[in-house]
Order: sequence, then C-alpha cells, then structure tokens
Amino acid sequence: MRVLSVLNQKGGVGKTTTSSALSHGLALSGNRVLAMDLDPQGHLGASLGADSDRPGMDSVLLDGASPEDLMRPAREGLQLLTAGARLMQVEQQGGGGPERGWRLKAAIDGMSDVADWVVIDCPPSSGLLVMNGLLAADDLLVPVSSDFLALQGLSTLMQTLQRVEQRLGAWSRKWLVLTRFHPRRRLPREVQDKLLEYFPDQLLRTAIRDNVALAEAPGFGQSIFEYQPDSNGAADYAALVEDLKQGRGTDGPQQPQRFRPQEARQRSAGLDEAGGRRRAAPAGASGPTGAGAPAAIGRGGPAAGTVTGNRTRRQRSRGIRTGAISRGGQPNGHPEQHPQKQ
Ligand SMILES: Nc1ncnc2c1ncn2[C@@H]1O[C@H](COP(=O)(O)OP(=O)(O)O)[C@@H](O)[C@H]1O
Ligand SMILES: [Mg+2]
Repeated sequence: MRVLSVLNQKGGVGKTTTSSALSHGLALSGNRVLAMDLDPQGHLGASLGADSDRPGMDSVLLDGASPEDLMRPAREGLQLLTAGARLMQVEQQGGGGPERGWRLKAAIDGMSDVADWVVIDCPPSSGLLVMNGLLAADDLLVPVSSDFLALQGLSTLMQTLQRVEQRLGAWSRKWLVLTRFHPRRRLPREVQDKLLEYFPDQLLRTAIRDNVALAEAPGFGQSIFEYQPDSNGAADYAALVEDLKQGRGTDGPQQPQRFRPQEARQRSAGLDEAGGRRRAAPAGASGPTGAGAPAAIGRGGPAAGTVTGNRTRRQRSRGIRTGAISRGGQPNGHPEQHPQKQ
C-alpha cells in the first residue's frame, strides 16, 4: 500500500483536480484505491459526485471510526471517504497533544488488505488536518501552478515539510507537479525551468497542461477520464499516474532520501533570491506576462545569466514531458508536437 498526500498551503493550485484524476486513474489501471477528502470544503467528494456531508473523515479523526466502515464505492476499484460536515472541528479542537497529528496514520495502518493506494486531498492550510495528511504519507505530492506567484513560498514549504518530518520521525518521498501549464507561453516555461533547476529529482516528468475539460468535469461529478477521456487533461493525468507508479522525476527515479539540511538550505537560498528580486521589481512595470516578470524569475537565481546555466536548463527542459501519454515508458517528445485540445 502506498499513501499519497496531495498538499500545498496555497489554494487553487490543482490539489483537488490532481487528487480526483489520480484516484480514478490509479483505479482504472487496476489498483484498489481509497480516496480521502481531508478538506472541510468537501471538494474532492463533490468532484466525484458524492455527498460531501455524509460522515467520513470527520468521524475517523474525531470519533476514531474505522475508515473501512465509512468508505463507499465511488467507481470500480475506487472507494471514497468524504469530508463530513464536522471535519472543520478537527482544526478548532484544542488539547490532545502531539498524538493528534498521527490519528490518520493510525487509522490507515493495516488497510493494505483493502487498498493498494490511498490518495489524500489536503486543505489549503497548515493546521492539524494537513499534519495528519503529512504524517500518514509515504509520498507527498505538491502541485505547483505555473503562474507568476507559483514559486513564492515553495522553498519554505519544502523545508518545513522536511523539518516537521525530521522532528516527528516521519519520512516520505516528495514530488512536485506543474499544473495549469501553457507550453507555449514564456512565463510558465520560466517557472518550469526554475523547478528543474532547484528540484530536478523531485519534479515529476509530466506537466499538466491547462485544459478546460479539467475545470468542467467536477461540475458533472465526473473524473476527467469519464468526462473527456480524449482530452489533454486525461492524457496528462494518465501519464502522471505512470510517473508516480514508477517514481519518474525529470532526473530519473528518485532515490529514497533522508533529510539533507545543507542541500535544502542551498535550494531555498536560490529560490528565495529569485523570489526576492521578483518582488523588488517595480509594481505594475510590466505585469506577469510582460518582459520584466519572466526575466526576474528566469535569471534571478544563482546559475542565472550565464550561458552554462541557461544551457543546462534548456537541456533539462527537453527531458520533461508536457502532457504526452506515455508509450512504453518513454518520454514523448516536445510540447509543440502536442497542440492543445480543449
Ligand atoms: N490543469 C488545469 N486546467 C484548467 N483548470 C484547472 C486545472 N487544474 C485545476 N484547474 C481549475 O483550477 C481551480 C482550482 O483547482 P483545484 O484543484 O480546486 O485547486 P486546489 O484544490 O489546490 O484549491 C478549479 O476551478 C479547477 O477546476
Ligand atoms: Mg482543493
């Protein structure tokens, strides 16, 4: 059993979209999947057409109920635990000590008879719910939307995750996935280059393109594989399922790693420097798609501005698939070969 928590303290980056698509995608490829909606807003449940208010994660975390008693079949091979109307109370309750962060892990342990994968959609916060998602996970997946502010706070988040794990004796693989990606726009490519530079072994190979079908599907209570199986969104998430199953980062398989504070600090320093320069740019000088913004993001970091640095990034960029369906595990070519279908 592999437990995957999808988390980022920012809202609107694609956590729920990713959780829904991965849960169903993993089930469609023959796995027994349990999807958990850990966000009191109940978006994952609603996305899959379920009544998010029926008891689920709230009873598991507040009453010690067993997930097996509350999960309900959502699709073939896919069980769902909805958020439940009382889930917010987990954040509001005081007391209980550090044990409260481990409740989800304790509840999931021993479920390997029932599930091959557990996919947990975390809320956009950094409270006790996310702590439970973090401590239960074997893999953490951080969606990063390819927009102007995407990198802000990312290095801090990655460091915080590592520090919390180190302090509490947990350990997980950490992955990043680019979402809402526009292969032909310059700014998203600059964000991609930055991620490749600082997190080459953690960025999953497939970037999820911006695709209107992904935005429409939840309104019909359908996963992208039901709503538009021939869309770019379905193709991208099918490829992402394979990346995760095989641990395919842009630099090849991720090796199990323990906390490496110096490396984390170096990465953080570079990204923060880039972010700092970006913030220092004159307000409204050029806007996110203007010449100033991408220059600040793309050339602000340490290896920046040098021919070597740029070449390295370009070469690495070729290794990333922007939404190609994986055939035989091979990268599927350049983004320009995959015109955006909507
Ligand atoms: N790749 C994508 N293309 C188009 N729209 C997307 C994509 N990913 C997410 N969205 C839309 O962006 C919004 C935020 O996504 P969501 O998954 O709810 O983010 P989060 O769970 O991080 O708050 C939603 O309206 C969703 O439909
Ligand atoms: Mg969400």
